[in-house]
Amino acid sequence: MRLLSRRTLALLLLLLCVILIVFQKLKSSPLLNQYGILRQYLVSNPAKQSATRSILIWSSFFGDERWKLPFDTLGPQQFRDDLHCPVYQCELSNRHDYLPSLELYDAIVFHMAEPFPLTAAFPLHRSPHQTYVFALLEPPGETKHRLSDEQNFYNLTMSYRLDSDIVWPYAQLLDAQTGAVVAPNSHPYWRQPPAIGSWNDSTVRRLWQTKKRMAAWFVSHCPTLSQREKLAAALQHHIELDIYGSCGTLQCSRGDPRCDEMLDTDYMFYLAFENSLCVDYVTEKLYGALRRHIVPVVFGGANYTRFLPPHSYIDAEHFESVEKLAEHMRYVASNVEEYMSYFWWRQHYKLADRSPFCELCEQLHSTRLTHKTQFYGDIQDWWFNSCRLVPHIHF
Ligand SMILES: *[C@@H]1O[C@H](CO)[C@@H](O)[C@H](O)[C@H]1NC(C)=O
Ligand SMILES: *[C@@H]1O[C@H](CO)[C@@H](O)[C@H](O)[C@H]1NC(C)=O
Ligand SMILES: *[C@@H]1O[C@H](CO)[C@@H](O)[C@H](O)[C@H]1NC(C)=O
Repeated sequence: MRLLSRRTLALLLLLLCVILIVFQKLKSSPLLNQYGILRQYLVSNPAKQSATRSILIWSSFFGDERWKLPFDTLGPQQFRDDLHCPVYQCELSNRHDYLPSLELYDAIVFHMAEPFPLTAAFPLHRSPHQTYVFALLEPPGETKHRLSDEQNFYNLTMSYRLDSDIVWPYAQLLDAQTGAVVAPNSHPYWRQPPAIGSWNDSTVRRLWQTKKRMAAWFVSHCPTLSQREKLAAALQHHIELDIYGSCGTLQCSRGDPRCDEMLDTDYMFYLAFENSLCVDYVTEKLYGALRRHIVPVVFGGANYTRFLPPHSYIDAEHFESVEKLAEHMRYVASNVEEYMSYFWWRQHYKLADRSPFCELCEQLHSTRLTHKTQFYGDIQDWWFNSCRLVPHIHF
């Protein structure tokens, strides 16, 4: 009797233990306690998302140590107030000793149009959480690195190409009413231009009367991969084209406001010819023209619908020959309604600049990067494979 009860007691104890264990298991099971698990995680890992990310600029930007930024070192406050970044929990410096060790930086930015600096080629030690950034605003022909030696090195790309991880455009177009960024974008939504003749712009109408010359081109690099100099020379046989700078016969010193003013008052067209025919490669020459009252004639490897509103420019690559292009330019210039229709977009869109470091900061905070390893195996293949040598237009 006594023995039995002791055994029962032992059994009861065992049963109790089992029940306790099962209860514990059930309590930590996501089937019953999903919110509790998340709550516990968040309590023990506070504010991981908002910790400041640090960025080191490794090499200079064409001799500019600051990459056109206002200071050598920027903290979250400058990211917010000076760069106007929506995500600003970042610090950035061009001083290699800003943090006590190179492995502490979350990202290191390398400028690909400069060789690795002689004194500090590249960091000797690398921590696996670090992001190395391939940064370049120039076309592939300006790359000063032997990329075949830099495989499996870069984690992120920052360039003008729209398929870069961080898009670094020369300028952006915003919707004037909402302020939303419209372009560049691989599939932008553009308003449709109004019918020709239904659109009036008194400034353009007035300026059209004073514009006595056809086209102006400002250029300082003469022989190019795109052979734009040959296209321009061929165009000169058909229209009056004034070439300013070291490749032409005319001079207008850079920074002289009269050079810009005469685009409004003297010229119908501005040539925005790129030096290489590369995907998405559109430079500041084009955006400079958009800030004046002049119609840009573009020549490049980009699909310009990704960058500019319809009917705001003339694309040389859409013409079979130089004769046809010249004929079209003459037609547009001869008719004020036609000429004016190229300016319809100005009431709907405005130009803006944005620092690529805003997007870099944002990406360093995104969960995509914190929890995923990514790098470019053959970055040369990605980068070089975007240009062509042969234009569509014959000249
Ligand atoms: C250019 O881009 C637009 C917008 O993405 C697209 O609809 C069009 O097909 C592209 N044109 C060419 C020639 O690729
Ligand atoms: C545009 O303005 C001009 C003069 O300012 C006027 O003669 C012309 O009829 C107007 N056209 C339209 C479509 O409103
Ligand atoms: C960056 O790439 C390297 C390989 O080159 C890799 O070891 C590292 O984990 C990557 N870092 C990130 C944050 O993806």
